[in-house]
Amino acid sequence: MEQKRKLQVRNLNRVFEGAGGSSVTALSDVNLDVKESEFVMIVGPSGCGKTTLINIIGGLDTATSGEVLLDGKPVKGPGADRGMVFQGYSLFPWLTVQKNVEFGLKMKKVPAKERAEAAKKYIDLVGLTGFENALPKQLSGGMKQRVAIARTLANEPEVLLMDEPFGALDAQTRVVMQELLAKISRTTGTTILFITHDIDEAVLLGQRIYVMSRRPGTVKEVIEVSLPGERSHNSLVLPEFLETKKRIMDMLWSESNDAAMGR
Ligand SMILES: Nc1ncnc2c1ncn2[C@@H]1O[C@H](COP(=O)(O)OP(=O)(O)OP(=O)(O)O)[C@@H](O)[C@H]1O
Ligand SMILES: [Mg+2]
Repeated sequence: MEQKRKLQVRNLNRVFEGAGGSSVTALSDVNLDVKESEFVMIVGPSGCGKTTLINIIGGLDTATSGEVLLDGKPVKGPGADRGMVFQGYSLFPWLTVQKNVEFGLKMKKVPAKERAEAAKKYIDLVGLTGFENALPKQLSGGMKQRVAIARTLANEPEVLLMDEPFGALDAQTRVVMQELLAKISRTTGTTILFITHDIDEAVLLGQRIYVMSRRPGTVKEVIEVSLPGERSHNSLVLPEFLETKKRIMDMLWSESNDAAMGR
């Protein structure tokens, strides 16, 4: 069956106007296509406009030109249909895990019983059952990010937008979180757009990877990733994994080499 189109980015440009008439072109003619239930990655060098791009998709920033379509309709600002998870955990420090996860539902005036049921489901999904009454300060970085993911999923967004969500975690915790997210993608079918500058992360999680050029960021290449079996830490040593990783490394290396040589 043909997968439904979920999120489209069309000819997106973003120019930041600086003081004294200087300007920075962060994004130049970016196009993306994300289908329903797909797990799509964007990888690119630091400063190439990845955060700018996801902020525009999330409605936190406005494009200079071009458009973002969700289910065929133009996006005009933030909305509950796009759930965002950032590197900083952005939890409410004075609320328990349970109350953090329920927060969006409370804002939507969902009744207490339904809220509690939803929170239970997503707390369980991210493996935090037993920590419902803990406060964020009592949790490790990985656990806080689990809460942030549960809270976002509890709102049942159409698309999950993630900007380097595991960037602050140590290498082992990172892989554990990547496996968790791969499982969430498989079991819930949530459409995920995930930004990273970590090539391993991109290949481990992505069904498709958009490789961006250095600033002004544009899509340099689109790579379909097919790895046998379910994505897990075991995927990291598969020949298919290493081949794809090498391809992307070469692409990004030529980008930084050109930059270093002033090309
Ligand atoms: N609000 C802003 N005003 C002016 N310039 C900005 C603004 N936001 C971003 N930029 C510029 O746009 C470019 C892209 O920034 P962005 O944060 O999107 O990059 P990035 O790919 O997310 O980088 P990183 O990998 O380091 O997170 C940078 O040159 C940055 O300085
Ligand atoms: Mg960024």
